[in-house]
Parts: sequence; C-alpha cells; structure tokens
Amino acid sequence: MSQSLATVAYIGAAILFILSLGGLSNPESSRRGNLFGMVGMALAVLATVFGPRVSPAGMAWIVGALVVGGGIGLYAAKVVKMTQMPELVALMHSLVGLAACLVGFASYVDTSIQLQGVEKVIHEVEIYVGILIGAVTFSGSLIAFGKLNGRIGGKPLLLPARHWLNLVALVVVVWFGREFLRAETIEQGMLPLVVMTAIALLFGIHMVMAIGGADMPVVVSMLNSYSGWAAAATGFMLSNDLLIVTGALVGSSGAILSYIMCNAMNRNFISVIAGGFGSGGGKPVQKGEAAEPQGEAVPVSSAETAEMLREAKSVIIVPGYGMAVAQAQHTVYEITQTLRGKGVNVRFGIHPVAGRMPGHMNVLLAEAKVPYDIVMEMDEINDDFPETDVVMVIGANDIVNPSALEDPSSPIAGMPVLEVWKAKTSIVMKRSMASGYAGVDNPLFYKENNRMLFGDAKKMLDEVLVVLKS
Ligand code: TAP
Repeated sequence: MSQSLATVAYIGAAILFILSLGGLSNPESSRRGNLFGMVGMALAVLATVFGPRVSPAGMAWIVGALVVGGGIGLYAAKVVKMTQMPELVALMHSLVGLAACLVGFASYVDTSIQLQGVEKVIHEVEIYVGILIGAVTFSGSLIAFGKLNGRIGGKPLLLPARHWLNLVALVVVVWFGREFLRAETIEQGMLPLVVMTAIALLFGIHMVMAIGGADMPVVVSMLNSYSGWAAAATGFMLSNDLLIVTGALVGSSGAILSYIMCNAMNRNFISVIAGGFGSGGGKPVQKGEAAEPQGEAVPVSSAETAEMLREAKSVIIVPGYGMAVAQAQHTVYEITQTLRGKGVNVRFGIHPVAGRMPGHMNVLLAEAKVPYDIVMEMDEINDDFPETDVVMVIGANDIVNPSALEDPSSPIAGMPVLEVWKAKTSIVMKRSMASGYAGVDNPLFYKENNRMLFGDAKKMLDEVLVVLKS
C-alpha cells in the first residue's frame, strides 16, 4: 500500500472514530456508533499492517501478535461479566500505558533514527513525556484494577506529607528530564530515563492508592483519559498521525466524562486531576461517622408490592448495581409492560453513577428492550417524585441515600441523589440492610413511607410479576 493510500485510509478511520463518538452519545444511535468504531479500527489496523512502514520480514511478528492479542480479547469479551467491565477497562488502560513505555524505550535505542538539532530535542521530549504518561497510566491502572476487584482494599492510603512527596517527585522528574536532553549518548541518557520511569511508576501507584473506594469510578474514567494521552504520545514518537488523533479523542472524551462524573458525585475535578483525592470531599468511610438513622425498617412481601404497583397511577423504577448482579432487567421489562398494559405511567430514573460503570443501567435496560423514551436521567426526573405514587428501587443504595443531601457529616455529603423518599411510597428491593458501595448507612430504609422487599432482585421480581399477571 502506498503512503498516500495509507494516509487516505487514516483520514477515513479518524472520521469514523469521530462519528462513532457522536453515535455513542445517544442510546438510539449507539449501535451505529459502535459499528463506525469497529469499521474505523479495522481500517486503521489494515492500513498500518499493509502500509509502507511494515517490512515483509516484520509481517510474521505482526500477524502473530494480532492472533494472540485478538484471541485474548475475544476470550475476555466472552467470559467477562458486565459487572466486571470496569476491572477489564482498567486492565486495558494499563496495557496502553505499558505500550507507550515500551515504544518510548524502543524509539530511544533505535539507531536508525538519526535526528539533529531541534528535531532531536523534540523527539527526545516526546519520548520522555510519552514514557512519563505511559508509566503513570500503567501502574495507576493496575492499582485501579486491584481495587475494583477487591484484591487491594478500598480505603485510601494517605501517606504523611503526600503532597510534598508528589511535588518532590515532580521536581526530580523535571531535573532528570534536563539531564536526559543533555545526554550525548544513548548510554548517558538511559539512567535519567530509567530513574524517571521508576518515579512515574511509583507516582501512579501512590496517586490511585490515595483514592477512596467510592471515588473509583472517576479514577477509572480519568485513567481512560490518561491512556488516550499516552496513545497520542506514542503517535508522536512513531510519527503516526492516526494514533495522535485517536489518542487525543480518547484523552479529551475521557476528560469530559471525568468532569461529568465529578459533577454527578460532587467531586472537584481539579483535585481529581492532581490525584490524591479521597480525603477531603471523598473522605474515607468510617463506621458510625454519619448520623445514625432513626426509626424502623418495614418489610413487605412480593404480593403486597404487586398490589401497591397495581393500584398506582404513576411508578418510577430506580435500578442500581443489585439489578445488574441479579440480572433482573428482563423481569423488570416484563413488569413494565404489564403495568403499562394496565394504564400505569411507568418511567425509569437513572443516576449517572448507578451500577459500576458509566451507562451501566442504560446498557442493561436497552438489552432488555425497555423503550428509551421512558428512561430518564436524574435531572429530568428528580422533580417528579412528589407526584409519584410508587417508586421501586431495585438493588440501588448510595444513589438514593438522603443523607447525601441532609447530613453534612456523611461521607457522601453533597453527592446529587434521586430523591425517591419524596414519592408517596418507596419500595427498596435488596437482600439485607447492608450498605452499598460507599459503605454508608441509608436513612431511606427507615422512613415512614418506605417499605423493604428483602431478597434477590430477580427472585422477588419474578414473584411480583406472577401476582401482577394473576
Ligand atoms: P450500591 O450503592 O453499590 O448498592 C447496591 C445494592 O444492591 C447493595 O446495597 C446490595 O444490598 C444490593 N444488591 C446486591 N446484590 C443484589 C441482588 N442480587 N439482589 C438485590 N439486591 C442486591 O449501588 P448503586 O446504588 O447503584 O450506587 C452505585 C455506587 O457504586 C455508588 O457509590 C458509585 O459511586 C459506585 N460506583 C459507580 C461506578 C459507576 S461509573 N457507575 C463505578 C464504580 C463504583 P444487599 O447486599 O443488601 O442485597
């Protein structure tokens, strides 16, 4: 393939990636968005593999890597459960970071690249910055993976004087950067490069270890952004325009997503970017720190729940992580259809961080064929709760916790929540009185107008459906 044809293919792929992001912004166009992304990526891979920069001798390596990498990807896509997606994503980000580091070292020792003067300096700055971002992304993502799957505890590790440690690390990295640029041989430049890589790896570990469990979603999306910048840096090192464009798209969309999630969780974006948060706004959760809830939780049966739903004129369903675990979305759909058939106005209220990844609930509801027009965002539906007869909270906890608004001492104080307690009746469906992801007690359970339906969400909803249909 000639250089000009490869360039045309790259431009086509870049346009497809942009269309893909546009499509993914709306559930109705998301399938098309996915398709654009897949076609764009296939085009990008083909144009690179058959492009002018791959020699026939290198082809066997590339095909081998494609088979191994593609095989692992296919296997992971088949076995990883929806609830494990954040872990998988964190692991994949770590690979992007690792690739940026390896490409950086390879470009540095590649003697076929003979540059002089300003070009040499620019290339070396690209290598230094690329490895720096790559190493932070690599180690930070591995720690995020460990925290998300529970191998590493969720509590933030707060070293004394940690901000000073970070500052010292930054100064040392800048100083070694100067040494690296002044090096006259590869051997001389290797020491500052290796020291900087070690510091960047430690910084990545320190940054994510200092973040509390409840703040992890923002961290994953922030690492997504970092991995994009790492890929863009790799693109600069390899003079690959498509990688620069793609990396910038991932980097900026990840940053925008982090910003949206910070708003949804009432976190400060700047402190997230700087790392080491989870102590101020998102302070570590300690038992008994928040005000003790008052009153008694009133249990109900599935038959009583069905009765309340049948008598309601308007129902809002609030799904959370527990619905995903129980895989109850199909039963939820059937209940929705049955109630709508009886003339009940059924809608869904989706919190931006419900579940364990952005868009988690929307994906599950779309999979179960729930119509998009009755699925509302938190801001669209929050004012409607006072006029709602019954709210059915399915396996959700933190996202409906009134202490976020009412108790300034709560670890989740300030996080916007779905104000379900303002409805005439709320029914919370979960297996026990256990707390949710943030580890905070929920006063909603003890409110006078709240009922608890204890049990596995799928099992209980199946029972509710049977009664509703009878
Ligand atoms: P959570 O607060 O985690 O609450 C889920 C509840 O589901 C639990 O209290 C659990 O109670 C219940 N549950 C678990 N399995 C169940 C089953 N089989 N049947 C019925 N109930 C079950 O979830 P949420 O309200 O969706 O809030 C999300 C939380 O996750 C937030 O704190 C958010 O910050 C965090 N987070 C979000 C993301 C993103 S991006 N969405 C990523 C990581 C973390 P029982 O044990 O009593 O059943």
